Amino acid sequence: MVSALFVCLGNICRSPLAEAAFRDAAARAGLAAEADSAGTGNWHVGSPPDPRSQAVALAHGVDISDLRARQVSAEDFRRFDWILALDPQNLRDLRRIAPADGTARLLLLNDLVPGLEGEPVPDPYYGGEREFETVWAMVQAGAEGLVRAMRAEES
Ligand code: 4NP
Repeated sequence: MVSALFVCLGNICRSPLAEAAFRDAAARAGLAAEADSAGTGNWHVGSPPDPRSQAVALAHGVDISDLRARQVSAEDFRRFDWILALDPQNLRDLRRIAPADGTARLLLLNDLVPGLEGEPVPDPYYGGEREFETVWAMVQAGAEGLVRAMRAEES
C-alpha cells in the first residue's frame, strides 16, 4: 500500500480535486493506494471543498462533498510515502515545516507531468468555472504522472 498527500494553500479548491483524481487514477491502474489532502494554511479547517470544486468534480462524475479541510502537520511527513505540492509556494512552505525525521518524498505535482516541470497548478480561488476546469485537467495529468512514478519505483 502506497500513500500520497496532496497539499495546497487552503485545502478547499485544488488539493481535494488532486486527492480525488489520484484515487481514481490509482484504482484504474489497480494500484493499492491511500490518499488524503491538506492545506499549508488553517483558515478553512473543517470546511467542505469550495462549491466550485465540488461542482467541477460532480460534472466529471466524482462526489467530493464529504471531504473536510485540514492543515498539514509534522506527522504527515512521517506517515505518507509521497507529499505533492500543488504550487511552488506550497512546496517552499512544506520544506520549511518538514521535520528532520520526515520520510515522505516531497515534490511538486507538476514535476511528474512531462513539459510542466516547475509549474504551479494555478490557484483558482479568485477565478471562475474556467479556472476550476483547468485545475481539474491539471490534477488528472498530475495523478497519472504520480501513478507512473509509483509504478516505476515498484519495478
Ligand atoms: P486552495 O485555494 O489553496 O486551492 O484551496 C485557496 C483557498 C482559499 C484561499 C486561497 C486559496 N484563501 O485565501 O482563503
